[in-house]
Amino acid sequence: MTFAERIDALTIDDLRRTGATKWIAPGIDIGAFIAEMDFGVADPVKSALRDAVDAEVFGYLPESMLRDVKAATASALASRGYPVSADHVIAVPDVLRALELTLTRLMSPQGKVIVPTPSYMPFLFLPPRLGREVIEVPMIDDDGTWRFDLDALRAAFAAGGEILLLCQPFNPLGRVFSRDELAAVSSVVGEAGGRVFADEIWAPLVLPGATHVSYATVSDAAAQHTVTATSAAKGWNLPGLKCAQLIVSGDADRARFDDADWISHGASTMGAAATIAAYTEGGPWLDDVVSYLDGNRAELLDLVAEHLPGVTMHRPEGTYVAWLDFTALGIDSPGEFFAENARVGVTDGAGCGAAGVGGARFIFATPLPIMREAITRMGAALREHGLA
Ligand SMILES: Cc1ncc(COP(=O)(O)O)c(C=O)c1O
Repeated sequence: MTFAERIDALTIDDLRRTGATKWIAPGIDIGAFIAEMDFGVADPVKSALRDAVDAEVFGYLPESMLRDVKAATASALASRGYPVSADHVIAVPDVLRALELTLTRLMSPQGKVIVPTPSYMPFLFLPPRLGREVIEVPMIDDDGTWRFDLDALRAAFAAGGEILLLCQPFNPLGRVFSRDELAAVSSVVGEAGGRVFADEIWAPLVLPGATHVSYATVSDAAAQHTVTATSAAKGWNLPGLKCAQLIVSGDADRARFDDADWISHGASTMGAAATIAAYTEGGPWLDDVVSYLDGNRAELLDLVAEHLPGVTMHRPEGTYVAWLDFTALGIDSPGEFFAENARVGVTDGAGCGAAGVGGARFIFATPLPIMREAITRMGAALREHGLA
């Protein structure tokens, strides 16, 4: 059986049996609101975890495994065109912990956090919990391509912004930015004397037609003002295992992370085992995933055009998140609307910032027949309410 045949054969009951939150949410039959894939886990990752269980490696992260995580991360990044020394890789439990460390260690107490919107939801609620104000900067829809509003970014730095959260591939808009686009952002950041938190957790999931460029590689200045976070969590579906990686490329900033071994104490031993296997042996599985997602992306665009007239969806270049814009239909809260009327769970765009109101995130890393069913049900709900 091929990968695609195996995934196509999965049923909603099979997915419910995984116990994943989005599949057992009350009132929902089809969960498309948490960024997890319904594709299982790569065999080499499962074997590495079984071996670790058999060897009872349940203690604090052993030094040898930490070394292997750093080396595996350095070679994964090098293969994406971002050569870093393994010594500069810091293991952390997850990308949000990397963000917290960055905000608390590199910002002044009054500094504000600049977030392009619609954004990944925690980018908006996590900084305020750390006492940092957020400045939302809506992305611009340039004839079907989401782009940074450079003037608005400049204004945000002038208004006290100190650090830009730059997520790419971009959850939820699916953009994979070109080197030129990133260089233009880096000029704005450089002129303002600001910093960038480059969240590249989605970098393994770049779909055919796009190429990932790590932000820190666009210029020496960018490397100096950037902290990059990445992880195997999205590409290999391991977010519960708690092992991500942080690279502080600024020479001056590195001094504020001189307790890297202590920081790494929080990364999990099982997560390290899985990460090493994913980065070193997980390529073929990832290729299958990307090819399946490529098929779902094409089909989703057709399904939206057919069943959700008036709804806008731009073709994502990476991630498995689609941004659906319902504003033309006057649906204020698509999350509530589709849960109530189609029993389909999507993330309501209001959580993605003011620019997200009337939109929704739809996770398309799911079996194609189930994705069809979800969009068909959503279309029927629109028709029942005279909206299509
Ligand atoms: C852009 C982005 N950053 C961070 C995360 C969370 O990563 P972690 O679980 O490693 O904190 C996600 C999860 O979906 C994400 O989409």
